[in-house]
Amino acid sequence: TRTLRLGIAGLGTVGVGVVKIIRRQAALLEARTGARIEISAVSARDASKDRGVNLSGYAWETDPVALATRDDVDVFVELMGGSEGAAKDATEAALAAGKDVVTANKALLAIHGQALADQAEAADRVIRYEAAVAGGIPVIKSLTEGLAGNEITRVMGVMNGTCNYILTNMEAKGLGYNALFDECAELGYLEADPNLDVGGIDAAHKLAILSSIAFGTKPNFDGIEIEGIQRITLEDIHQAADMGYRIKLLGVAQRTARGLEQRMQPCLVPATSPLGQLEGGTNMVVIEGDAVDQIVLRGPGAGEGPTASAVLGDICDLARGLRIPTFGQPAALLEEAKPAQTGLP
Ligand code: NAP
Ligand code: HSE
Repeated sequence: TRTLRLGIAGLGTVGVGVVKIIRRQAALLEARTGARIEISAVSARDASKDRGVNLSGYAWETDPVALATRDDVDVFVELMGGSEGAAKDATEAALAAGKDVVTANKALLAIHGQALADQAEAADRVIRYEAAVAGGIPVIKSLTEGLAGNEITRVMGVMNGTCNYILTNMEAKGLGYNALFDECAELGYLEADPNLDVGGIDAAHKLAILSSIAFGTKPNFDGIEIEGIQRITLEDIHQAADMGYRIKLLGVAQRTARGLEQRMQPCLVPATSPLGQLEGGTNMVVIEGDAVDQIVLRGPGAGEGPTASAVLGDICDLARGLRIPTFGQPAALLEEAKPAQTGLP
């Protein structure tokens, strides 16, 4: 039996979830992939923290770069977060050392995805990141594999669990969004900097990634017009409800005659529509293609189990030998995005 040896950097919400599945489902994973999936080493900042999961048998590295470049690591699993610093350094080091990479880090890919994809391809390595967009929903796989025969015309949806949780519970519980932060933290939804969530930045990172795959363009985060939910008040929510609407943080990416339109902003949607009925941390991604017409993907967008589920999907693909270019086509073929200004304030 082949063995795929992992080095996991980051033992927070997602990292612990991944370790738990690998420990619990070893036999199932081997049966499905034909490979034994093993953890060689792990890394986090605090070696003394009790993480509620058995880490015995794994080597400990305090430095993620050292972890990423170990001889007994085939795949570097980056679950620390952040577009700069340790996550970027260790990912680059892993690729340079001939490792494949699995990550949940949308900030890293939205900002440095093109350079990392170039580096990966030059080294004949792959980067997989299903967990980076819409948590447990296999939207990256859908775009790069299932919908590969389509010219994609539009991608849109709700892509941040925290914002959706806050917006739906402001209405349900009559609380302001600051009061709901604790609940989101408890559920493991929040980014290390929650301003990325409520500011629409995290969802925009995800939109930049989807847009790149959908339209064959280099990820263009700077071309996204972004407005977060910080200015939405309880009064706004109640007024919308009185008119039969709900407020959702909605992302849209589409090709137009003026160029690539990408925006992330709070929108009014009918309360009875599928988007209007999206509760809590649930995400929904709508994809339109010339052949398929429209598909709707819906599921948990954040939290330990759903996100770890997506990470495991990527690990299993690597164990099976599946090797797909980062943004669904060779990085050198990605076009420069030409942003269309929509005139949002
Ligand atoms: P988290 O709970 O804050 O965990 C981050 C982990 O990374 C911690 O174990 C931390 O160590 C470790 N870490 C941070 N900086 C480090 C450094 N410089 N060196 C070594 N270890 C370091 O974060 P998370 O929620 O699991 O998120 C991880 C990644 O998944 C992020 O990219 C996030 O955007 C993404 N993601 C999260 C979710 C979700 O629902 N949570 C969903 C999709 C994607 P200590 O524990 O010792 O502090
Ligand atoms: N903070 C993110 C969210 C985690 O709330 O959607 C999932 O990417």
